[in-house]
Amino acid sequence: MDHGSTQVNNHANQANLEASGIANMNLGQGEGVYISTYGCQMNVNDSERMLALLEMVNFVPVENPEQASLIIINSCSVREKPVHKVHSEVGRYRELKEKNPRLRIGVAGCVAQQEKQKLLKDVPVLDFVFGTDSIDQLPDIISRTYASKEKVVAARFENEKPYSVETLIRRPGVASFVNIMKGCDNFCTFCVVPFTRGRERSRNLQELINDIRSLIKRGTKEVTLLGQNVNSYRSDCGADFAKLLQTLAEDTDIQRIRYTTSHPKDFNQELVDISQKYRSKICDYIHLPAQSGNTEMLARMNRGYTREEYLDKVRMIRAGIPGVVLSTDIIVGFPGETEEQFADTVSLCEKVRYDNIYSFKYSPRPFTKAARFADQISEVEKQRRLQVLIDVQREISFDLAKEYDGIEIEVLLEATTDTEGQLQGRTTQNKLVFLQAPESLIGATVAANVVKAYPSVLRAELVSVVGQQSPGSLQ
Ligand code: SAH
Ligand code: SF4
Ligand code: F3S
Repeated sequence: MDHGSTQVNNHANQANLEASGIANMNLGQGEGVYISTYGCQMNVNDSERMLALLEMVNFVPVENPEQASLIIINSCSVREKPVHKVHSEVGRYRELKEKNPRLRIGVAGCVAQQEKQKLLKDVPVLDFVFGTDSIDQLPDIISRTYASKEKVVAARFENEKPYSVETLIRRPGVASFVNIMKGCDNFCTFCVVPFTRGRERSRNLQELINDIRSLIKRGTKEVTLLGQNVNSYRSDCGADFAKLLQTLAEDTDIQRIRYTTSHPKDFNQELVDISQKYRSKICDYIHLPAQSGNTEMLARMNRGYTREEYLDKVRMIRAGIPGVVLSTDIIVGFPGETEEQFADTVSLCEKVRYDNIYSFKYSPRPFTKAARFADQISEVEKQRRLQVLIDVQREISFDLAKEYDGIEIEVLLEATTDTEGQLQGRTTQNKLVFLQAPESLIGATVAANVVKAYPSVLRAELVSVVGQQSPGSLQ
């Protein structure tokens, strides 16, 4: 990859940095920075922001930690497993530090936010720890660790100021992700996110629209709006999520709009109507995490809806947006979950017939209510329930895939693949598609025939170009 040579095309941010003196720093001296990223799309976006900031102060992104003078692990703490991974990854870098005295190692993200200085104490090889609200301080943090080998912690939540942040993406793709809000106030009893991402804050509508317009100028055709609960978006000007979708659809040239994650309690008829009205732009795919199919479990999870209410929302969505594809998140083995209650979850999945389920074994998390519930389920039983659910879903996914065989689909072509001459793209239903096509068609929308449909990917043949990309707009 051609690193280092690309300038971050973000003038306002550059101006901010210049005002703070950071842009003139030569902190990196052309040396390498390596970032490894765990967790959700928020973290992926945050890592991209870190790289953009670090390129401005002359670090060069590298693919291999051995080539780096700066290593950052952007951590996730949503379950225990990714937390373990952070610790074992840091362990592997101990030796590198002995070889390269300039090497600085830090942890960012949700584990950093959760553990703060304790992480520095527990893992002496670390030089700095910074939380989810401290990313823009990164150049300053790095400068301090290089200046004096001082260990730095920056993990305060910025809850007073309005949430104003410009999307920093070094090379925007055909499909780009944009944060519309941060934090979460829902406090589901299993979830650590409200503790690691702080209180809910939305970005101003106009700022967001301008931000997306500048991505479109740089080649973006599809935008995915990101938030822990996008349905509770509310701009300081009063605009809600439906208004945001409408403004994006009407006032910008974006071709496709996606969003994640929706909360079933807040998904309403107005949103269905907007999706219907702007169907040519708003994608036919909704991720609607159920977590459980049992009303009592849902109450203990503090989800704010019953099984019946969830099923009503599914009916409402399907009635308003025919052909919409749904996916979900499920937790198995939540404390106290009986065999019958688990059976309700299986039956919910059979009833809804999601295209895809992301299923997880319940994992007790720090600060959360459910971690203190007495009736925890054994690991063996959680594993068994997970396998039951996976097996049930596999059949459903295979069945649903058959419906795609031989049909014509519309694909937005996003990128090349490892296979010569093959491109990849997505349908509006978020199906990944592989097809043979010239690279010049990246950014174009094409019609294609499905040759073979698998649950996670469609193989297709190009039929014709429906909408052409603007030439040379991609960086
Ligand atoms: N804000 C989103 C996603 C939050 S985290 C939402 O409300 O759906 C992503 C998923 O991780 C959750 O939907 C949930 O299924 C899973 N998850 C969160 N905490 C968990 C825990 N303690 N144990 C197991 N899975 C968990
Ligand atoms: Fe976690 Fe619930 Fe907030 Fe999602 S809505 S981030 S599951 S607390
Ligand atoms: Fe995301 Fe993990 Fe944090 S899922 S919000 S990186 S805990």
